[in-house]
Amino acid sequence: MNVTKAEYIISAVKPAQYPDDALPEIALAGRSNVGKSSLINCLIRRKNLARTSSKPGKTQTINFYRINDLLYFADVPGYGFARVPKSVQAAWGKMMETYLTRRETLKAVIQVVDVRHPPTADDRNMYLFLKHYQIPVIVVATKADKISKGKWQKHLKGTREGLELQKGDPLLLFSAETAYGKDNLWREIENRIGL
Ligand code: GTP
Ligand code: MG
Repeated sequence: MNVTKAEYIISAVKPAQYPDDALPEIALAGRSNVGKSSLINCLIRRKNLARTSSKPGKTQTINFYRINDLLYFADVPGYGFARVPKSVQAAWGKMMETYLTRRETLKAVIQVVDVRHPPTADDRNMYLFLKHYQIPVIVVATKADKISKGKWQKHLKGTREGLELQKGDPLLLFSAETAYGKDNLWREIENRIGL
């Protein structure tokens, strides 16, 4: 997709605040600090429209971005960051569960994992959650620039096995740093929104 327009629309904590113009939507999911917001910025070729940080816990609300007046990206808080108080983690969990199970325009979730490390228990639970609710999932293994090319296949195998990825669920290698994998991911997104 050639992105000519990318606008921040709203930060929501409850359904009444979600955009209601019925455009197809793609949401992110993944551990805190894994690179969800960076992935959005890379796809839309904007440096910091989706705010990023080297400190985990940057994104705390569901942030909606409208792209080319054609689709939304929903950027969300990450899971599994121990230093966020338990009460806050629980509130984020509830907010995400409500969003993922009720959002009718949601076409797919991009589950972002770190290609350097095997999936965590939280990663596996998120994948199972998405499968349970039959939400289409695109798994993206990001930060590919952080390991040498010769190790990519071995690490992707680790991701696939660690998640027990089901047939038909794509696994794409990505780097927000180098934009590796960007065209493949856009193609996958376009498929999911019926372009
Ligand atoms: P939360 O909002 O806290 O859940 O984090 P997030 O998943 O949105 O992560 P974010 O995009 O803020 O990125 C976290 C850190 O990882 C930042 O310092 C980014 O620059 C870095 N980062 C993200 N993607 C990549 C990548 O592909 N390669 C490299 N080298 N660094 C990356
Ligand atoms: Mg973020």
